[in-house]
Amino acid sequence: MRKSVITQGFSEPLKGEIIAPPDKSMSHRSLIIGSLTRGKIKISNFLAGADCLATLEILKELGCEIDFLDKNTVILDAENAYNAPKKDLYCGNSGTTMRLMAGLLSAQKFKSTLSGDLSLSKRPMRRIIEPLTLMGARLKSNDGKAPIVIEQGELKGIEYRSPIASAQVKSGLLLAGLQTPNGATTVLEPHLSRDHTERMLKFFGSNIQSFTKEGLYGVTVSQSTLIPKDLNVAGDISSAAFIMAAAAIIKGSDVILKNIGLNPTRTGLIDVMKRMKANIDVLNCDLVSNEEVGDIRIQYSPDMEGCEISGDIIPRLIDEIPIIALLATQAKGETIIKNAGDLKNKESDRIACVERELRKFRAEIKGTDDGFIISGKNSGNGLFLGDTEVECYHDHRIAMTGYVAGLISKKPCKINDFEWVETSFPDFLNIFEKLKGNF
Ligand code: S3P
Repeated sequence: MRKSVITQGFSEPLKGEIIAPPDKSMSHRSLIIGSLTRGKIKISNFLAGADCLATLEILKELGCEIDFLDKNTVILDAENAYNAPKKDLYCGNSGTTMRLMAGLLSAQKFKSTLSGDLSLSKRPMRRIIEPLTLMGARLKSNDGKAPIVIEQGELKGIEYRSPIASAQVKSGLLLAGLQTPNGATTVLEPHLSRDHTERMLKFFGSNIQSFTKEGLYGVTVSQSTLIPKDLNVAGDISSAAFIMAAAAIIKGSDVILKNIGLNPTRTGLIDVMKRMKANIDVLNCDLVSNEEVGDIRIQYSPDMEGCEISGDIIPRLIDEIPIIALLATQAKGETIIKNAGDLKNKESDRIACVERELRKFRAEIKGTDDGFIISGKNSGNGLFLGDTEVECYHDHRIAMTGYVAGLISKKPCKINDFEWVETSFPDFLNIFEKLKGNF
């Protein structure tokens, strides 16, 4: 059902302590890699958002038994996995589901078809189809796009130099490699993308090594038996990002976010906010299920400065760029974001859509081939009038960015198709209302 949300103009300060919503990337992997143990495990702090539920339904169709003990606790029993599916495997809006499942399914002895929604059906799948084909998998697609039909192939390990840093591609290949008796599989990437798959495979006892070679980041996996174990998913820094940014730009705010995943391949936003001179502190670090977690305190930050964001840091904050673009409009000076061309291939073309939507607030933002140039507060940008309607293009992160822009606008704003936020952050509005002191 389509749903619009109206922000009421200048928000009251955000105050209080909340638990960060569960991590989407790790929730997908907890089910997928958990199922490869062929055992029974409990997954705590699982994200029951639309994307992860698409992965869950696919695994059920493949013969896993999955039950919820409560909203965020799942019992996965994969003793009978995997069976031939009786219908197409629908990935919804989720690129992670499609690219990781393509790897897992390439090693099965049955035929399967992965399909997706309108947005996912436009996204590039050659990046995973080509290397899986080099491994001996048999995949057919609609000219490099979904649906992907996967037939039984004879897999062998390869060394693959990925032209892009993509955790989805890397993970798809590792999941195929893990099930391949014929040699080890190595993936090399130009920058280090998120390494949750590697960490989770290690957590379940697989034979996997990470290394650097010739300036590239590598990982090698060989066939291994995984040992079932209960797992705890960390909080999602990519969802927390919207609260962190809002607290930094709404006058008088002071928020503590607890249990956020602080895996260094995901914490580029914290580095950038520190560089921008935001008031941000990281507290109470710990290691849970082989992932760093901790708390973040973030306070109103009126003296933020623009900066350049490029190179190795890009994969560490790729999903946070829409909200970083908004932060940059509230910082003094110019912010330049470069080397982020893959933003065009996300749930929407995030370069075009972020530029178009933030301009409605009169932000001085220009999309480039691989990022943005944003002029900050000193050029008068900081004062958002609002009184506008934001479109989200089937993209949860554009909707949430529009909402936060509404909170610093003078007049009300309407964010259309807000139901897309269910993809990654179903509790978004409740958490914001709580931080505004409304219940
Ligand atoms: C993800 C990897 C990233 C990220 C996406 C989630 C993952 O995509 O943007 O939201 O869970 O592996 P790419 O692999 O395309 O960079």
